[in-house]
Amino acid sequence: MTGYDALAEVYEWLISDAKLAPAEFAASFDDVLSLLPSNAHVLDCSCGTGQLAVGLAGLGIQVVATDASETMVRRTAELSEEFGASVRTVRADWEELPDHFDDVTFDMVFCVGNSLHHAVGARGRVAALESMSRLLRRGGHLVLTSRTWELVRAKGSRLDVSDRLVRRNGRDAVVVYRWDIAPNWEEEHHIEIAVAQVDAAGSVLVRSELLSCWPYRYDELEVELHRVGLRMEMSTFNPEAENYMVVASKV
Ligand SMILES: C[S@@+](CC[C@H](N)C(=O)[O-])C[C@H]1O[C@@H](n2cnc3c(N)ncnc32)[C@H](O)[C@@H]1O
Repeated sequence: MTGYDALAEVYEWLISDAKLAPAEFAASFDDVLSLLPSNAHVLDCSCGTGQLAVGLAGLGIQVVATDASETMVRRTAELSEEFGASVRTVRADWEELPDHFDDVTFDMVFCVGNSLHHAVGARGRVAALESMSRLLRRGGHLVLTSRTWELVRAKGSRLDVSDRLVRRNGRDAVVVYRWDIAPNWEEEHHIEIAVAQVDAAGSVLVRSELLSCWPYRYDELEVELHRVGLRMEMSTFNPEAENYMVVASKV
């Protein structure tokens, strides 16, 4: 139980329009996908509801999708079936990945969409990255996207309420994020997320979850990638931007 099982049921209200269509989500990684050999094997190790995994499978890539949340894995399998895609799904925490897959199995591992901050502290983060690194073949790539925690922490604890209704499956919802920023970087932080669906009669149905996270600075991530045998090859980090992507290769 990672704290995503309730949110998994309403996750489409949390993902951007651009990530909803599997093909579009996969296409947003066109540049990194050009690094893959033909007949590539790819792992999405925090697959969420599966849009990326299904989009990659649609490109003819052999895809395995894992997630710590049983409900997320089920939703990925359902999406895969809906699209007639061939995605193998496995419920696995990052640290359990080596129990499921041999070392040097994948050409690319994705850990995207603000996932890594759920690893418990620096120790948990390095253990998670170590698992991802072990599964990569030499020269294979880890693709990671992240919130810019430097920016998130600078804004402090706060409530963010969506300024528009988010419409999915014909239903509108207000999305609320409550950020609980601890005094020190190393401490457990919390994000409480609520999806409040409003129906035509004005009734409101709320699903919410309190998520734990452990932020990290970009500089720390760089050192940690190095520690697990990954060399940073590309980075979009910009301290003023909300998110960034890094691509690191297995040495
Ligand atoms: C913000 S969601 C991102 C989902 C998806 N990658 C996306 O871009 O929409 C974070 C995901 O990380 C998963 N997660 C959290 N802790 C995890 C862990 N220790 N091992 C594997 N997955 C984990 C959650 O279950 C959730 O599906």
